[in-house]
Amino acid sequence: MTDIRHELRKFVAPEFIIGEDARLLAGRYAKNYSVSHVMVVTDEQMLKTGWISSILESLTAEGIQYTIFSDVNPNPRDFEVMKGADLYRESRCDALVAIGGGSPIDCAKGIGIVVTNHSHILDFEGVDNISVSSPPLICIPTTAGSAADVSQFAVINDSRRKVKITIISKKIVPDISLIDPIPLTTLPKGLTAHTGMDAIVHSIEAYVSNASSPVTDIHALESIRILSKYLPLAYQNPENLHYRYQTLLGSLLAGLAFSNASLGIIHAMAHSLGGEYDLTHGECNALLLESAIEFNFSTCPDRYLSIGRALGVDYQCSDAEQCKGELIQALTKLRESVGIVQRFRQIGISMDCIPDLARNAIRDPCLATNPREPDIRDIEQIYARAL
Ligand SMILES: [Fe+2]
Repeated sequence: MTDIRHELRKFVAPEFIIGEDARLLAGRYAKNYSVSHVMVVTDEQMLKTGWISSILESLTAEGIQYTIFSDVNPNPRDFEVMKGADLYRESRCDALVAIGGGSPIDCAKGIGIVVTNHSHILDFEGVDNISVSSPPLICIPTTAGSAADVSQFAVINDSRRKVKITIISKKIVPDISLIDPIPLTTLPKGLTAHTGMDAIVHSIEAYVSNASSPVTDIHALESIRILSKYLPLAYQNPENLHYRYQTLLGSLLAGLAFSNASLGIIHAMAHSLGGEYDLTHGECNALLLESAIEFNFSTCPDRYLSIGRALGVDYQCSDAEQCKGELIQALTKLRESVGIVQRFRQIGISMDCIPDLARNAIRDPCLATNPREPDIRDIEQIYARAL
């Protein structure tokens, strides 16, 4: 007999197809869901690439009509979601196809919530506050990082309060994700770096989360192994399809981990930064990572040491404090290898900004699963250390 207690854990994941040309299955899946007129949610940058035309052709080939909504900015705003929902109703759409990075996908999730639940998007903040499931949602991610295409999370910017709200519900897990490395071959280097570091932070936060489980652990550690090897390679060789495929695989595994184990203090603090200053989400995470580990490490040192091993750290340390230093060094090296070398003060954040940022961060639902409970002073110190 063992006295180990195996607590109940649930794992939610959508159907996904990963591989070259997966995007071309959009039409077939729309037909499988018996829909006739989809809203394609994307952004202006995506419309300028050639990739979207092949996806639209796959819809047309199956007799599916579409209406394009591309009025979506990075860090999607509440009013963009509401405008998309109006267009969805006016155009009599019956499904959503989201093409792009995390922003169009989160916006599409928001539109789906609003059109079936008939209320303002900001009414659904928090965990499990959605009554009615969304229309069919087909996702085609074109970055390797947000994993919004497989997660039960959506992050929307409350434009009046200037904070990001997090919506968490299995009712917004997409119906299918078509994960195709080909569109990533034209992804700019900066976006490759920021989204890739976002994925690594997803895995790290999921692995140390107090809602982690044996199933999420497997996904988190493997994702760290894959991304620490292939993100720098994809950054240096953007057109290499194998490297792009591996970063998508790493991002997918990270998404399955964090969607089910949730996140932690880094995301809570990054959401606050992104809401107030409209900074890139992945860059905020990357710049907070080392300071947050300084805070969390003593609560679960063994977990952090496992993360280091997954990163390839061959520990030479004699005590936990030295090991922490070696782990942080490895993460700094990884971050700098993808060109993220500046500090927050160089992108306009000063000591004066910190009290407001900390006040918003401490209310973020991602904090609930951080392994160490911070008070507002702790959060202020982490921001200050990252300046
Ligand atoms: Fe993230």
